[in-house]
Amino acid sequence: MYFDTHAHYDDEAFDVDRDELLAALPEKGVSLIVNPGCGYESSLAAIRLAEKYPHVYAAVGWHPQDADKWNEQSETAVWEWAKHEKVVAIGEIGLDYHYDDGPARETQLAVFRTQLELAKDLNLPVIVHDREAHADCLELVRSANWTRGVFHCYSGSAEMAREILELGWYLSFTGVITFKNARKVLDVIRVTPLERIMLETDSPYLAPVPNRGKRNDSSNLPYIAQVIADIKGISPEDVVRITRENGVRFFNLH
Ligand code: NI
Repeated sequence: MYFDTHAHYDDEAFDVDRDELLAALPEKGVSLIVNPGCGYESSLAAIRLAEKYPHVYAAVGWHPQDADKWNEQSETAVWEWAKHEKVVAIGEIGLDYHYDDGPARETQLAVFRTQLELAKDLNLPVIVHDREAHADCLELVRSANWTRGVFHCYSGSAEMAREILELGWYLSFTGVITFKNARKVLDVIRVTPLERIMLETDSPYLAPVPNRGKRNDSSNLPYIAQVIADIKGISPEDVVRITRENGVRFFNLH
């Protein structure tokens, strides 16, 4: 059974069939999902989905692109949400330097730092979004001195991956690893022990080949598992089982 450790089922792309789709996923072999929040509304929406579906868990946090919406009430909200039995992580949080019109870097850095400290105080793992901000992300993660974290949709170098793994952190991989131009991330998978890898779709984005460009959902996880199985020289079944165990351990699910 698959564990999709990162999927945005609160996204409007699922407005037409969200309930049908989520209810059917266990029959398709997907028995665990973590739905991260990207701000106030989507964190609340993630919790609502987690309350509705036994196989869905929520993470709460402010995405770097929503960093300028963070305020003092946000911190109070995170403290409240974290008491919920199905809130299992802080995320997704991090840095995104891709967009010129996004929140200022200083704002992103401050909000990321604050949420890392919050996660430590709450004893919750963090889900990190790092887009074109590798050096700053690594520096903040290091200085936070927090051992429970994952770089989601990892896009850095193999060298940086080694440093992240030394901190006790995990890496998770999306359909990007099935793309033709994915050579760099395949090198990362080669140096990453299977015990530190988690699977994710980042639905509705990043659908793997052969469904690239379409709306993504958790039933596409087998394509991602297959690439990892090929690199590691083991069966896809073993990849699915071990990455699921990793996720259960990482998010401390019972
Ligand atoms: Ni995401």
